[in-house]
Amino acid sequence: MHQAIGTSCAKIILIGEHAVVYRQPAIALPIKSIRLTATLTPRQGLAQTVRSSFYTGALAAAQPPFSGITKLIRQLLTFFDARSQGFTLTLTSALPAERGMGSSAACAVAIVRAFYAAFDARLDRATLLNWAAVSEKAIHGNPSGLDAATTSADRPQWFVRGQAPRPIHFPRHGFLVIADSGEMGQTGAAVGHVADLLRQDHARYQPLIAGIGHAARQAAVALAQDDLKSLGTQLTAAQAALAALGVSDNKLDALVAAAMHAGALGAKLTGSGQGGCLIALAVDHAGAAAIEAALKKAGAVATWQYDFSESEAL
Ligand code: MEV
Repeated sequence: MHQAIGTSCAKIILIGEHAVVYRQPAIALPIKSIRLTATLTPRQGLAQTVRSSFYTGALAAAQPPFSGITKLIRQLLTFFDARSQGFTLTLTSALPAERGMGSSAACAVAIVRAFYAAFDARLDRATLLNWAAVSEKAIHGNPSGLDAATTSADRPQWFVRGQAPRPIHFPRHGFLVIADSGEMGQTGAAVGHVADLLRQDHARYQPLIAGIGHAARQAAVALAQDDLKSLGTQLTAAQAALAALGVSDNKLDALVAAAMHAGALGAKLTGSGQGGCLIALAVDHAGAAAIEAALKKAGAVATWQYDFSESEAL
């Protein structure tokens, strides 16, 4: 092992969260300006230590949710025949945790990349996503794989569970405002909630899952046709279905309403919900600025702008 770094970035789900767990399609964007870096430094002796804003201490002493990352690292060490190698792993992250931006998947992706670099091993995409699934399963229970696929990507992704993710073209114009509601969201709990609803009353809730899938397909058509108005309509339709599945909350509902009132073409929660972030679609920078101001006034604790023209830049 030699010193090495691996990187990844934040993700935003444009449309399709939750339904993607049930093999409906989803569209998600890597936010390349919000990055996570894993630095792996070999040490003399047996100590295996983590330093990060998520957890700092001995690898073996980490509690949930970080113990999911411990499981991933143990399996990587076994794979590279280095179980007793001492090291310090430093994670530097600009991603807010538990806000639907994919921080756990971004950790996994950056760590796997750092290990493969530290052992001078070639890493293909499918192998990377298989490794990320180790900690994502331990942390969230039943992940679709969308978060890892997006936090490791250069371009927006069209994702169907069990299939290789594909890049999807975005129009050159259009802005998303991303706003943090300030509430923590737990992906595992939100995914479990939807699973419970489907178990209890499949006939009532399955059409909502299918409806989100339909909205994602229509959103892909809207993107291909540079039709932001139709894209906004699909985002709002997905939000209605997510709210009916019980994964929105009062704060997210109020922020969605504030964004629409400020002229958004559509708005919805992003990620697993029950807290976390929302997105609102604007035609141009001025429209995005007005929506951002309205969201802050309505209680958003942080906002970001994503310019669609960033989507093709490497
Ligand atoms: C979480 O970012 C997205 C969900 O669809 C869960 C998943 O895809 O694993 C809620």
